[in-house]
Amino acid sequence: MAGLTQGLEPLAIVPVRPEPLPAPVLRPVTSAGFPSLAAAVVARYAPCGRAARGYVAGKLRHDPVHRAVLALAEGTAPGTAPGTVHGTVHGTIHGTGLGDVVDLGCGRGQLGVALLLAGRARAVRGIDLPGRRLDQAAVAGAALGLSTTACDLAARPIVPAADTVLLIDVLYQMQTRSQLALLAAAAAAARRRVLVRTLDPARGLRSVLTVVLEHAWRRVSAQAGAMVNPRPLSELAGVLEAAGFAVSAAPCWRGTPFANVLLTAHRTGVS
Ligand SMILES: C[S@@+](CC[C@H](N)C(=O)[O-])C[C@H]1O[C@@H](n2cnc3c(N)ncnc32)[C@H](O)[C@@H]1O
Repeated sequence: MAGLTQGLEPLAIVPVRPEPLPAPVLRPVTSAGFPSLAAAVVARYAPCGRAARGYVAGKLRHDPVHRAVLALAEGTAPGTAPGTVHGTVHGTIHGTGLGDVVDLGCGRGQLGVALLLAGRARAVRGIDLPGRRLDQAAVAGAALGLSTTACDLAARPIVPAADTVLLIDVLYQMQTRSQLALLAAAAAAARRRVLVRTLDPARGLRSVLTVVLEHAWRRVSAQAGAMVNPRPLSELAGVLEAAGFAVSAAPCWRGTPFANVLLTAHRTGVS
């Protein structure tokens, strides 16, 4: 693992984008409008080839996390108003949705690209292991304000300061000690909120199925993560609460048989 960090760009603890940027225009993403947002995201991957475009299209179509995070960026609770993705637009962070975002384990970066295209993030910094996926994120998001950094976050849990830190499906791929260290670093870096999507080990058959499929995936894909090590939600929430966040958890598996949940952590005392 340590070898992966050799020759990588050093991470400094600085704001994602220190200079002020104009506030993006927030546009409501309606249920009917999500497919056109998804199509715009997929189009950004045109230079990355058909496989990348197909992967991103499939993720956006089938993984509910994109709509859930977009909804949080609108400041609405999931499912509050039929006719929109998850409700109406209000309560955003200074009118810039999630503000400056750091996406830890960003993969191909499609969530960050969607947030930027929808005007729900001011800038996004995606951090992941060096490789093709991160390169594709850089290609897709460069013109939108998405920057990338290659880093082994298990070896170097250093997180740049941001309004919002995302950890989507990355923690459970790490050893317990590394997960907790990265989560603590994310909490220290987040001015306003931390969003964690992870596998809940306490959801009965859903959890068993998800863990089995994750192990099977590791047999066929060289790109699958190092391990399948979901920690109890109470353990993850404890790290965030100790850092001054109020934490809630909600299922984030809609339309799938998986045990994915979204932890939403808001720094207390920050509107
Ligand atoms: C299941 S993918 C999720 C990708 C992205 N968050 C998404 O929602 O599409 C997990 C990601 O975590 C990254 N990852 C796993 N271990 C990592 C580590 N030690 N340091 C940095 N990234 C890591 C993987 O490379 C992969 O891109």
